[in-house]
Amino acid sequence: MSKLDSSAERPESEQRAADYWASRMSSFERILARLEDAGLPTEPLTVEALSRVDQMHMGGAASTDELIKFASITATDLVLDAGCGIGGTSRWVAAKTGASVIGLDLTPEAVETAIALNTAMGLNDRVQIHHGSITAMPFGDSTFDVVLIQHCAMQVEAKTDLATECRRVLRPGGRLVFHDWFLGADQPVLYPVPWAAGEETSFLEPLEEMEARLSSSGFTVEEFIDQKESGLQWLAQARASAKKKATDDRGPNGSPRDGSSISDTMVPNIRDDHLLLGFLIASAG
Ligand SMILES: C[S@@+](CC[C@H](N)C(=O)[O-])C[C@H]1O[C@@H](n2cnc3c(N)ncnc32)[C@H](O)[C@@H]1O
Repeated sequence: MSKLDSSAERPESEQRAADYWASRMSSFERILARLEDAGLPTEPLTVEALSRVDQMHMGGAASTDELIKFASITATDLVLDAGCGIGGTSRWVAAKTGASVIGLDLTPEAVETAIALNTAMGLNDRVQIHHGSITAMPFGDSTFDVVLIQHCAMQVEAKTDLATECRRVLRPGGRLVFHDWFLGADQPVLYPVPWAAGEETSFLEPLEEMEARLSSSGFTVEEFIDQKESGLQWLAQARASAKKKATDDRGPNGSPRDGSSISDTMVPNIRDDHLLLGFLIASAG
């Protein structure tokens, strides 16, 4: 049970999302054990070793490198990692660019693990983690140079609040980059997906609707970079390496234990255009 206040009044859909993730977040001790099992170093802990378990999205750390590139992050930037999970993106961005990063997540258990990892790595001066929702952020206006959203928007019901809050906390000229899921051209989506057993914790919408929300919230939408092919390649690699470790029943961090059923739905979801995956880049006017 988390020591953070999870009982703060929240929209029901956000409480369901936090409940969904609570049991799927690895504790600090569990992460160390997983690294040790994989023969990876834990003293000192490095972002490279941790990336095997703390990048809770398609493409792993390579996708976070793409976010860095699309957001043109430099060492002087203050970056928000919205929906940061256990802080994998936040730590990677800080380590690879020298930027200061603030992570924000709804799930208390994720926040606690993220803080424990940052503390163990001596990163607390450059990577801070806050508990809260992307739809009502605990930050002042024009605080950030960059907002990153990696595999989080698909689970947020109040998407207009998401867009207006991102615009509010970004300085004029700041950059917003999503790496996220949208509804594809061909329905229905097959469940389960890594973020939901069904539609009760999944709030997908077509890309065009998010683009329209961003435009009416004061953003200029610049580009969408489709990740269908790279997503399918990544799933094929993940499936091949899971087969090799057939005796190990643990899925990727944050995925339900039954990794094969996720792969069974996600391959057709992407291949047959039930889901659209990509990078969406916008700038704050
Ligand atoms: C698939 S994980 C991705 C974590 C991280 N972005 C990464 O890529 O490693 C989704 C995360 O979004 C968080 N989340 C869902 N709804 C949120 C909201 N309204 N505000 C903040 N975080 C949210 C969940 O708690 C979970 O940690």
